[in-house]
Amino acid sequence: MSTAVDRFDNKARSAFGQIGQTEVYEGELLRHRVYTRFLHWMVALFFFLALFSGFGIYLPWLFRWFTPFFGGGPMARWMHPWFGLGFVIFFGLQALNWIKPMRWTAADTRWMRNLKSIVRGKEKMEPPETGFFNGGQKVQFWEIVSGCVVYVITGIILWIGAGLFGRWAVAVSYVLHDISALIMLGGIFIHIYLSTIGEPGTFHSMTRGAVSESWAWTFHPAWYKKVTGRDPRQAYEEALRKQSGAPSR
Ligand code: HEM
Repeated sequence: MSTAVDRFDNKARSAFGQIGQTEVYEGELLRHRVYTRFLHWMVALFFFLALFSGFGIYLPWLFRWFTPFFGGGPMARWMHPWFGLGFVIFFGLQALNWIKPMRWTAADTRWMRNLKSIVRGKEKMEPPETGFFNGGQKVQFWEIVSGCVVYVITGIILWIGAGLFGRWAVAVSYVLHDISALIMLGGIFIHIYLSTIGEPGTFHSMTRGAVSESWAWTFHPAWYKKVTGRDPRQAYEEALRKQSGAPSR
């Protein structure tokens, strides 16, 4: 199973690698290939299309003004499940692509226990054992995976309707579908904040595909060590010395 997934991902990565390219300059590291970036932005596009068309259906008295963008209320209602399907399919492909780096480890449990001091910004660098993704990113990833399962099950029930599934199934599906959307929306707000203003330099990773070495040793020190073979703390102190004009050792 895992080898079939690996073969599929490798094929897709090399096919997309021929369509677009990722330039990595001196002092930078490759973070996300073209295939990963393509999937990420397709996920984001379909997520927001599903969200905005869904809002018009969920709270029409408040969000009716969204529906003209989709050609009116009935058209938004018709398009919403297709946008949702697009979101789930692209995220499903991304989930296969990221299944390995998203595996939960003991370091992620420690990262979550340490969350308070990380949020308060007590440390300049993330804990030294933080790999390609940190515990918070993995929690969000698995939340989206579970959200997608809920969307598919409840979405099909809502799409086909009470005629086949009964009124109770439809009523319960409405509640679960909306709770799942609200949880995901909350997470996406935090995600957008952290990927842009919260952790400067992160946005590049999903546009150009590369990050600076200082970004890597600050936010993902174990990944930095793995790809460069250098010690992140030493690299950080060396950079500080260079900045202050002191001679390097
Ligand atoms: C305009 C909105 C968005 C921006 C600016 C954005 C930005 C980014 C960036 C820069 C990364 C790479 C982080 C890293 O390499 O460590 C990333 C990763 C990711 N994005 Fe987004 N993203 C957006 C919307 C979305 C949406 C709508 C979803 C899914 C519903 C999503 C799901 C993810 C996931 C699961 C990851 C990997 C884990 C993580 O970094 O949290 N993103 N995003």
